[in-house]
Amino acid sequence: MTGETPPVPTASPLLAPPALDWRGTTPVDRATGDIYFNAQDGRGETEGVFLAGTGLAQTWAGRRRFTVGETGFGTGLNFLCTWDLWRRTPEARRPGRLHFVSVEGHPLTPGDLARALAAFPDLAPLARQLVRQWPPGEPGFHRRCFDDDRVALTLLFGPAAHMLSQLEARVDAWFLDGFAPAANPAMWDDAVIAELSRVSAPGARLATYTAAGAVRRTLAAHGWSVTKVPGYGAKRDRIDARFERRPGSAYPGRPWCAPPAPRADAGPVAVVGNGVAAMHITRALRAEGVETVMIGAGEPASAVPGGVAVPRLSLGDDAAARLAVRSYLHLTAPIAPDPDAAILSLAPGEGARFDRLMARFAWADDQIRPVDAATASDLLGTRSTAPGYLLPKSPLAAPYMLMPDRPGRVTALDRCGDGWRLTLADGSALDAAHVVLATGSDLALCPTPLPVRLRWGRTVCLADPPMVPRRPVSFGGHAVATPKGLWVGSTFDKTDEAGDATADLLAKMAKALPDLADALAATPAARQWRGARSTTPDHLPLVGPLFAPERVAADYAPLARDASDPRVPPLEPLPGLTLVNGLGARGYQTGPLLGELVAAQLAGAPWPVERHLAEAMHPVRFAIKALVRGQAPVGADP
Ligand SMILES: Cc1cc2nc3c(=O)[nH]c(=O)nc-3n(C[C@H](O)[C@H](O)[C@H](O)COP(=O)(O)OP(=O)(O)OC[C@H]3O[C@@H](n4cnc5c(N)ncnc54)[C@H](O)[C@@H]3O)c2cc1C
Ligand SMILES: C[S@@+](CC[C@H](N)C(=O)[O-])C[C@H]1O[C@@H](n2cnc3c(N)ncnc32)[C@H](O)[C@@H]1O
Repeated sequence: MTGETPPVPTASPLLAPPALDWRGTTPVDRATGDIYFNAQDGRGETEGVFLAGTGLAQTWAGRRRFTVGETGFGTGLNFLCTWDLWRRTPEARRPGRLHFVSVEGHPLTPGDLARALAAFPDLAPLARQLVRQWPPGEPGFHRRCFDDDRVALTLLFGPAAHMLSQLEARVDAWFLDGFAPAANPAMWDDAVIAELSRVSAPGARLATYTAAGAVRRTLAAHGWSVTKVPGYGAKRDRIDARFERRPGSAYPGRPWCAPPAPRADAGPVAVVGNGVAAMHITRALRAEGVETVMIGAGEPASAVPGGVAVPRLSLGDDAAARLAVRSYLHLTAPIAPDPDAAILSLAPGEGARFDRLMARFAWADDQIRPVDAATASDLLGTRSTAPGYLLPKSPLAAPYMLMPDRPGRVTALDRCGDGWRLTLADGSALDAAHVVLATGSDLALCPTPLPVRLRWGRTVCLADPPMVPRRPVSFGGHAVATPKGLWVGSTFDKTDEAGDATADLLAKMAKALPDLADALAATPAARQWRGARSTTPDHLPLVGPLFAPERVAADYAPLARDASDPRVPPLEPLPGLTLVNGLGARGYQTGPLLGELVAAQLAGAPWPVERHLAEAMHPVRFAIKALVRGQAPVGADP
């Protein structure tokens, strides 16, 4: 064996990359001794076994969206071959999307990924994009989009059975590509096959390179009709299969989070709002091939000048921490790192916790780079009393507004047939099969009472400042130099304050950047911008269907006696109404991933996050919590 890659030590909870040996250009897994792809003709085997075995080119013909599932992402060779084939078929030029969902317990390092894929020069342009967007080994789901969002890869990082148990999808074709069953039984066992069967579409196809009897029997036991066919190359035979069962209709999660049947293809979806939430929902729905109309008016909080998109890093592992990590990695994946323009995030008052935080977030250098206070001072050109981290991919929260298709304020929502009629302020109307409310701090159209709290914020522009930091910096607040002056933000106000916020903002700055704050003290604010954030008590957004509180109170009354009562029914939501709200102080980070989630739920496409994370954001959660505690849900009649 040549060119051995030593195992890379990682800080928990990042998944350890595999220890590899290299047989020529082919990686070999040291733990099982198995190869990642056929050393003679890796691409030929992928095309012969998986692409031809599932009849992909014929099966996806004419489909608006199509989902391939895989066990064992490995080097991504199967994904790249599938993507390449998709690009060469007419479906790639029609509205719609190819989804590829793949589970991987030991993600390769980006270096090993690139090295392995270098064996396939024809795939180099696609391989480069994959490597550029490759996530760090954070356990959980990672959504990556390619080809103008027309191809969506969802990586499920973690043990196969557990990760698949969190998946919501309807998979049309499966590639089973774990290491050989004898050496790697956990990838082929009953739990894995049960979970992949649960998310298989009726008639789904399946192909694998093995013909192991145990695999054939397990597949058959879960409703697959299995055929032994000639194997590829020297292998005698292998398996193709077709899913003959209708998948069970029971949603495996919390009954009150059971999603309504996807309706996005029943007619146009109207997205109300013109901030980051509405924009990303519209973008993601269009990527799914869904006819979408965005209707909005007013200046959104999303138009905040001088904002930054920095991650909320924490040592916790709750839903808010997971959402922060996954949405930040999703946002920044396609961004080319720029160390010179990188935002510096300072961590004043963190003490020893800072080192633990940096050990926890041991991501690649182009994603995060810890710096001590002295280096931070050099990078900013002004004294920093705090260490921090450079974020070479973090974007500024550029104030932009996607132009709505229908500019205007929606003043009324009325049921109309199976859908909704939206009336605009100018008296015009529009009918839609489904409505998504993404209206930020204005909840006037939302029929369901929810515990949303507004937190106002002021940000000031200091014109002709005597000193500016050499790069955008965050410190609890943030400062961003622009040609018009230095924007310093932002306050958190319980009421809508109009007074000059400069002194408060500089006091916050002084904790990390005392000299800069001193120097700016005499600079008057040339402009002040105000906006309102919509926040929730648990700091998680509200994403999902709306409901009538009285109905929830009646249907879920048994939970007051027994919070785990399994007999409660699925949620009966208000038909055709979805809410996206409560993006709080970080809409720029979460907006893109939340857009993907809403589009997936409406279109019946694979969800980009684990079920438990989607459930943690469900708007009904507060009503259920109240019932369990014996309180009336918000808005229910006493
Ligand atoms: C001062 C301040 C600083 C901030 N700084 C940052 C930052 O640095 N980084 C960051 O990530 N986030 C920041 N945020 C938070 C961020 O702005 C929000 O999380 C985000 O903008 C929320 O987006 P949204 O689309 O949900 O709502 P909004 O951006 O508020 O958009 C909702 C839009 O819907 C429109 N609308 C409402 N009702 C109707 C209707 N009936 N018909 C038509 N249109 C309607 C509204 O007028 C509004 O334009 C800041 C917020 C404030 C206030
Ligand atoms: C043969 S390789 C996959 C090759 C891959 N399809 C490709 O195109 O390169 C098998 C993969 O399955 C992964 N794997 C094995 N057992 C697993 C398990 N129990 N859970 C998750 N992933 C597992 C391995 O880490 C390895 O990457």
